[in-house]
Amino acid sequence: MAKRNPHLAKLQSGYLFPEINRRKKEFLAAHPQAKLISLGIGDTTQPIAPPIIKGIVQAVKRLGKRDTYTGYGDEQGITELRERIASVLYHGRVKGEEVFVSDGAKPDTGRLQMLFGSDTVMAVQDPSYPVYVDSSVMMGQTGPLSSKTSQFKGIAYLPCTPDNGFFPSLGNAKDAGVIFFCSPNNPTGAVATREQLKALVDFAKENRSIIIFDAAYSQFIRDENLPRSIYEIPGAKEVALEVSSFSKSIGFTGVRLGWTVVPNELCFDDGTPVRKDWNRIMTTVFNGASSIAQYGGIAALEREGMKEMERTVSYYMENASIIRQALRKLGYTVFGGDNAPYLWVQTKGMTSWDAFSFLLQKAHVITTPGSGFGPSGEGFLRFSAFGHREDVLEAVKRLEKIL
Ligand code: MLT
Repeated sequence: MAKRNPHLAKLQSGYLFPEINRRKKEFLAAHPQAKLISLGIGDTTQPIAPPIIKGIVQAVKRLGKRDTYTGYGDEQGITELRERIASVLYHGRVKGEEVFVSDGAKPDTGRLQMLFGSDTVMAVQDPSYPVYVDSSVMMGQTGPLSSKTSQFKGIAYLPCTPDNGFFPSLGNAKDAGVIFFCSPNNPTGAVATREQLKALVDFAKENRSIIIFDAAYSQFIRDENLPRSIYEIPGAKEVALEVSSFSKSIGFTGVRLGWTVVPNELCFDDGTPVRKDWNRIMTTVFNGASSIAQYGGIAALEREGMKEMERTVSYYMENASIIRQALRKLGYTVFGGDNAPYLWVQTKGMTSWDAFSFLLQKAHVITTPGSGFGPSGEGFLRFSAFGHREDVLEAVKRLEKIL
């Protein structure tokens, strides 16, 4: 008989977003006429811009001709794309050979767990993107679940709250081999300053930890003084790898394209370069991102593509500003939404799931309950700024009626 991976049984319930979907379907079954508006999952709605589509279409056409057809590519990605990511997005701070192109930041986060095995303590911002904790649980890095706090004993939770400006006390990560850190943060929308990231890098050096820096929303940073990459901090290449994505900035949530930077300098405590093991993992369990998607990525990093990327991001950030202003007028305390496509809203005393259900039932607006991102998310709702403008305006109108 095949034995079940015992760690899977420790996962509390379904993954957060399918659970929200389940509740949405349940609601629709009871109210088939309801016109729901989703400000829940961060899924893009704007079409992919023409110069990027052109890159994709050309790649598709090449596949249709015997002379230009290509099969498997390098597992690490097309060299031109790797070089372009390094030069255009990292301004040469990293080398093309250090960029591993993939099908997205989320699958990379899951695969990164293989680097560390089950004996490593993971530290996570609390609240945080649920994939960090759930994939750690699957790998068995978690110890038992404490019924009092619903926290796993083998995971170091780093509370990020309004009181600490959403930057955690790093001392809580002293047992952690790996620190997940997301900036701009999903879900709080907070962006770490240069000084805060320097403190994080210094801590990781002293503590001999590796940082997994999630920069999936870096293109949404409007304030030029805020760092878009951990590699803007001197010395970060010795302690951090960075995952990122084309999903949100150019509408590739369905196309799938992301990358992980693994610097040559980054080593495990026994001196083995992390890049060597990541290359081994990726060449074993991954066959490379779709070539079609990669040519879309190359087009996105050309001058016209970059302009379009900026246009798309600005559109969503205007949505964020509309939602923020409306909620503030209604007397809510709202964080984020100025350098990130997420707004983190205090529920005025309701539990997160109660507030979620209230808005679903009364306004037919879907949000994401903050407690789904960790214990410190209780009492918050996350609003996503991804959506068509008319839907965002309609959602705001409905909220104004009921709140
Ligand atoms: C979110 O809503 O947090 C994200 O869309 C989920 C994801 O990118 O996987």
